[in-house]
Amino acid sequence: METHYISIKEAMKTGKGKVAVRGWIYRERGSNNLKFIVLRDSSEIIQCVLAKEKLENQWPEIDKLLIESSVEIEGEVKEDKRAPTGYEIDVDKITIVQAAEPFPIQKDQSVEFLADNRHLWLRSRKMTAIMKIRSTVFGAISEYYRSNGFYEYQSPIFQSVQCEGGSTLFSVDYFGKKGVFLAQTWQLYAEPAIFALEKIYTMAPSFRAEASKTSRHLTEYWHSEMEVAWAHFDEIIGYGEGVIKAAVGKVLENNMDDLKILGRDPKKLEPTVKKPFPRMTYDEALKLLKEKCKLDIPWGKDLRTVEEDLLSEMHDTPIIVTRYPKEVKAFYMKEDPKNPDVVLGADFIAPEHYGEIIGSSERESDLEKIKKRLKEMGEKPENYEFYLDTRKYGSVPHGGFGMGVERLVSWICGLDNIKDAIPFPRTMIRWTP
Ligand code: 4AD
Ligand code: MG
Repeated sequence: METHYISIKEAMKTGKGKVAVRGWIYRERGSNNLKFIVLRDSSEIIQCVLAKEKLENQWPEIDKLLIESSVEIEGEVKEDKRAPTGYEIDVDKITIVQAAEPFPIQKDQSVEFLADNRHLWLRSRKMTAIMKIRSTVFGAISEYYRSNGFYEYQSPIFQSVQCEGGSTLFSVDYFGKKGVFLAQTWQLYAEPAIFALEKIYTMAPSFRAEASKTSRHLTEYWHSEMEVAWAHFDEIIGYGEGVIKAAVGKVLENNMDDLKILGRDPKKLEPTVKKPFPRMTYDEALKLLKEKCKLDIPWGKDLRTVEEDLLSEMHDTPIIVTRYPKEVKAFYMKEDPKNPDVVLGADFIAPEHYGEIIGSSERESDLEKIKKRLKEMGEKPENYEFYLDTRKYGSVPHGGFGMGVERLVSWICGLDNIKDAIPFPRTMIRWTP
């Protein structure tokens, strides 16, 4: 009869009796007659005790087993308060699937070494916990949009125009042709599709040639974007608040063990699910910075990281800053009908110094204004003809936003650096392994 393997978590839930589990050796220590291994699978870790007496024939191999060897185990599970996770398996049978070579990663390795061995470091409990939370976040985002009537839609990654400024554009050698770039955003290729689908979202990589080596920037990141027809500014912002609440809520529901492994206090995340996000205009933000932080920012300057951090410190949920000066925001943002100096754009700033997680706006509907702003940026409107057509054939009020998934995951997990929010991070100085 074929052995029925269960996960370590299930084995612990069973609590007593015969079980069969399989995984990798996470820790090992031995004496003359006993070998203790801590076995790891995707679900949990558990201590297993192997006695020479019972496993005499295999003892030479067992004695030599190193960490990360893959094994299948059958034995008796029981509660044991002294074991690392409170349970222990008394092993009756072990199959060594592969006896591992000495594992390159040992204790107290440098950040650089771990980055060079990222493919192996993914097995760590820390990375496993982060990747599980990341999976929950991806699932929650899709679920949120689908349950709100959105279609999932895909835009091209090779693009012929820029959207978020030339300075962070990656050019591609496209059969020797010039003017081909990696997507910074799906936006210019998403807006045309709302005329067919009305409500759309995506989860896709975006690329930014970020020369800055900060703890918040990647050159390749996962971008969750949405675009919606017939919607005005407040409604668009409402979706942003909704999707963040949904993602954080799902993590609190499903990943308490993972947050614990990461040493992340879930109480820091609860207000985000329960409380409405404070909204303030750029003007109000400047006033707050002046009154509470004695910082005098001249009107028209963009908010820098320091200012965003000061504002976010005043709250325990993300905050929404709206109506920025036109000059500091992208060409496609709609001019505020009540004040032509500002645009109907909003940034969502995460608590605890995690910075901007969402950039959003209602889109400019006036064709001439868009052309004028493109020219001011040094762009040729002819190159944007396909985009400008969206304002010619049944234009409707619409807008959307982009959320940096690693920024969100980074904050949820309480990470020091965004690099750990993605399996294989890409930055200016790191593109291997
Ligand atoms: O604010 P951004 O540049 O907005 C756009 O790209 C819009 N076209 C989105 C839209 O309206 N559809 O980028 C959106 C978000 C930021 O708020 C940030 O969370 C994330 O993308 N982001 C980055 N994340 C990691 N590394 C980088 N280099 C990032 N650049 C932006
Ligand atoms: Mg932005």
